[in-house]
Amino acid sequence: MKIDVITLFPEIIRSVLEYGILNRAIDRQLLRVNLHQLRDFANDRHQTVDDYPYGGGAGMVLKPEPIFAAVHALNPGSETRIIFLTPQGKRLTQHCVETLSLESHLILICGRYKGIDERVRTKLVTDEISIGDYVLSGGEVAAQVLIDAISRVLPNAMNDYRSAQEDSFSQDLLDHPHYTRPVEFEDMRVPDVLLSGHHQNIEQWRYDQSVARTIQRRPDLIRQP
Ligand code: ADE
Repeated sequence: MKIDVITLFPEIIRSVLEYGILNRAIDRQLLRVNLHQLRDFANDRHQTVDDYPYGGGAGMVLKPEPIFAAVHALNPGSETRIIFLTPQGKRLTQHCVETLSLESHLILICGRYKGIDERVRTKLVTDEISIGDYVLSGGEVAAQVLIDAISRVLPNAMNDYRSAQEDSFSQDLLDHPHYTRPVEFEDMRVPDVLLSGHHQNIEQWRYDQSVARTIQRRPDLIRQP
């Protein structure tokens, strides 16, 4: 899978590529992430990427030409998903992450300032994605979130793939509690069932805990029949 990212701040995104599962997925060549400086596609001497909004108002708007030039330079195929990260987009879910992880080429466009010229949305963008109902100062952190979440569901990215399958949301349930040594810590004991060695009881306990947590914390995740 290849992910091209168009951004004014490639360094923000680069840091996340250097650690953990994401770094390993890149090392194992399951994923390639290329960062592209939007300014390199500006067509004037000052490498201008933004301008005042028609109709007036506060804030600058990203110009269409550099974004069109950057996307065209990346040779998108008919299957390429061109994703604009924006609070106006569809909310990112684990299901959406899993669907995107099956694609072979994604182009992510990170906005800044007040927004982007609407013609980028009209003509280029195939998907708009939001990572939550709050406004970030740009799309870079959202792109980090998306790339990170995709990398951990790529087959063979995790040493133990079961770990991804057992994550919160993977079965529409939150994850169960986890314990490690010591058995007793500050008067808190690891539940006996986890020490029992009885795998079926352990599975049942974990499932019950997941359901109870989901009902308590995120009842909206429980599907109605
Ligand atoms: N850019 C600014 N805020 C964002 C958000 N919540 N999700 C995705 N991209 C964004």
